[in-house]
Amino acid sequence: MGLRAYILGAAAGGGLPQWNCGCENCNLARSGLIPSQTQSSICISGNDRDWAIINASPDLRDQVREADMLHPTGLRESPIKSVLLTNGDIDHVAGLLTLREQQPFTLFATSEIHAVIASNPVFDALNPRFVNRTEIALERPFELVTNVIATLYSVPGKVPLYLEGDKVDTQLEGEQTVGVHIQVGNTSAHYIPGCAALTTDLKRRLQGADIVFFDGTLWQDDEMVVAGLSQKTGGRMGHMSMSGPDGSLAAFDGLDVGQKIYVHMNNTNPVLRPDARERRIAEEQGWRIAHDGMEVAV
Ligand code: MLT
Ligand code: MN
Ligand code: ZN
Repeated sequence: MGLRAYILGAAAGGGLPQWNCGCENCNLARSGLIPSQTQSSICISGNDRDWAIINASPDLRDQVREADMLHPTGLRESPIKSVLLTNGDIDHVAGLLTLREQQPFTLFATSEIHAVIASNPVFDALNPRFVNRTEIALERPFELVTNVIATLYSVPGKVPLYLEGDKVDTQLEGEQTVGVHIQVGNTSAHYIPGCAALTTDLKRRLQGADIVFFDGTLWQDDEMVVAGLSQKTGGRMGHMSMSGPDGSLAAFDGLDVGQKIYVHMNNTNPVLRPDARERRIAEEQGWRIAHDGMEVAV
């Protein structure tokens, strides 16, 4: 049995449409002219039966309802055996609150991300009698769920927005933002929903992978500024953009990767429109744009 990966949510924090956003994409999604997308999450299985969720989005309840494979198999039996966090951002942790209800599962994260969760008493709603919080060291393989070996590694990023101080290192490499290597049999995949730069080390790591799911937050670094929505660039948010000389399209050019799939798209990203020129450019360079319900099986 091989790897199955199913996109629960393809959008970045806020989702598409975002509750308070009147940008072009959000308006198109609201009127049903382009597909809506929920917030950043994927689930993984190595045996078609047991599933791990990577990142618990605020939309988790709806995402589970839409995903047949995650439905209960008995009165209080869930195929969701574990949850892994790649950072402490709200779009990746708020869904943990949906997972209360005395259901056993393992919560995997680095010690620094666990410390962020532990310092917020609202997460004590996850009863320790049922939810096993397991700290994972970087570069140490562990069993994420049956048949799935995962390894966490640091990627350039930053602390969660709500923990930012006066000075923010947006290229921090440590335990606050990680990528995940996923191995099922001979199949090798990476899930990297947030990444500020594709370093030489990271390129070397991704070389030869069967699948890479990668940070597709923005098309263009100043996209939200130009749209009049925010003063923040992608760089300031700890996300490298798709286009431009420092973008991911250029950085992946020449890398040997089987399938390249963008995830975590911000609602301003033009690639969310099926007919956008920018989407065609990404597709011509071998990328696919994830959408809710997309499944990749190898
Ligand atoms: C991000 O990916 O930059 C964060 O999810 C932003 C946020 O917390 O809203
Ligand atoms: Mn995010
Ligand atoms: Zn919008």
